[in-house]
Amino acid sequence: MSSGVRMSQDGNLSTMTKAYAKWAPFYDAIYARILRQGRADAVRAALECGREILEVGVGTGLSLGDYPEGYRITGIDLSKPMLDRAAEKIAAQGLKAVKGLAVMDACRLGLRDAAFDAVVGQYMITLVPDAEMALDEFARVLKPGGEIILVNHLGAEGGPVAILQRAIAPIARRIGLSSEFQLGRIRAWAHGAGFEMASAKRVGLTGFFTLVRLKDRRAAAQAAEAA
Ligand SMILES: C[S@@+](CC[C@H](N)C(=O)[O-])C[C@H]1O[C@@H](n2cnc3c(N)ncnc32)[C@H](O)[C@@H]1O
Repeated sequence: MSSGVRMSQDGNLSTMTKAYAKWAPFYDAIYARILRQGRADAVRAALECGREILEVGVGTGLSLGDYPEGYRITGIDLSKPMLDRAAEKIAAQGLKAVKGLAVMDACRLGLRDAAFDAVVGQYMITLVPDAEMALDEFARVLKPGGEIILVNHLGAEGGPVAILQRAIAPIARRIGLSSEFQLGRIRAWAHGAGFEMASAKRVGLTGFFTLVRLKDRRAAAQAAEAA
């Protein structure tokens, strides 16, 4: 990566850290309900993959209570104040599935290779300027055959919805709902990295958010290349 890109990533980290330090006390009051369906769908998908799960950008831990005992959840986030709220929930609710929380950047995970059955990113991937670098890290820590599961608002790639989103983009950006990050960007990464986009489904009645499941097919891709 060029040093210019690294500097812009580092600048973003500091902006993001400051922003979420301010958000932490109010986050649950504003986002607990409106983002709930996507969180529940993402957790349900992750539970199908296996017991060892990484939640990247876990925030205040609103999803942690949805993981049953017997699973082993690691949560990481850039923001310590957000993680402090998650730690309070774990203690107050006695959440036994949570193995640990750590302050970490999604693009530089201090975690070993091939450790997780699923890597989950809820409402976070569009906040990372170099999303592909984060996805590379998710792939690195994923066990062979595992899944990356993302839920987010993603811009439509074409049709009337894309036209409408472009029209309201200046207002949407001001309230943190940019549609500039499109599903195609994730599809392109998956294609190049040996992952299959197993599904990309609109969430809930409004369909404003999309749940994306990326299945690791690296072994099959390597075998086909070698043949
Ligand atoms: C919109 S909140 C979502 C929190 C939680 N996943 C939820 O569903 O409520 C986005 C979270 O991503 C975290 N975040 C943003 N950029 C990150 C990065 N590069 N690495 C790790 N976490 C990041 C923020 O600190 C924040 O807690």
